[in-house]
Amino acid sequence: MANKAFAWLDERLGLTTIYNVVLDRKVPKVNWWFTLGSASAILFLLQGVTGMFLAVYYVPSPQSAYDSIQFIMNGVAFGWLIRGIHHWGASLMVIVVFLHMLRTFYYGAYKYPREFTWLTGVVLLLCTLGMGFTGYLLPWNQRAYWATTVGTELPGTVPLIGPFITNVLRGGTELSAVTLTRFFAVHIWFLPAVIGALIGVHIYMVVKLGISSVPDRED
Ligand code: HEM
Repeated sequence: MANKAFAWLDERLGLTTIYNVVLDRKVPKVNWWFTLGSASAILFLLQGVTGMFLAVYYVPSPQSAYDSIQFIMNGVAFGWLIRGIHHWGASLMVIVVFLHMLRTFYYGAYKYPREFTWLTGVVLLLCTLGMGFTGYLLPWNQRAYWATTVGTELPGTVPLIGPFITNVLRGGTELSAVTLTRFFAVHIWFLPAVIGALIGVHIYMVVKLGISSVPDRED
């Protein structure tokens, strides 16, 4: 019955072809450091899923943001667990993506023909940092408020366009309700959409070009 259902779907969706092209590929002799890219992708998915659950209760307004987080921690079943995973997952993702970048740099995987994979990776790293920056404000506690005050002050020191950048980030001269909704929108819509699309391109490149082998003395 299950086999029949699979054959029916396979005939229409080409599942076996997708499996053969995407997963059943020849991989050179690699080591554990080569798992960091997949670990980054899994962490992104984990952040996405836990973030969706947090968004059920989180309210992005200065009056309610702090209280909604307190409610998630103390009033919602397993809210503390979901928030804890999202909180620690964020730091872990930054570390893992950074280590993955170091791995590809150390093995020279950024060289021809993988320059574009590297370039999409650079934007992925910046977006991952952006997720951390925008997410940090959301609890709207003292630490979040002042960290973002400093964080949005820094680009203000850029000659000529600095004050403009600070203004765009804050949605005004001071941190306000506009800043909070702005950071929330970027955190849950803009950056995840960009990261999701870029991971698609990044992995397409990996599938198309194959994983680079560990360089040896002759290379
Ligand atoms: C969310 C962030 C990222 C995800 C999900 C991701 C995912 C992946 C995956 C699954 C692979 C194949 C397996 C592997 O080699 O580990 C890979 C390869 C690669 N990644 Fe990333 N990556 C990310 C960020 C980056 C960054 C920041 C860079 C560099 C700036 C980068 C550069 C590369 C390169 C050059 C390869 C090819 C490696 C090879 O062929 O040996 N990636 N990535």
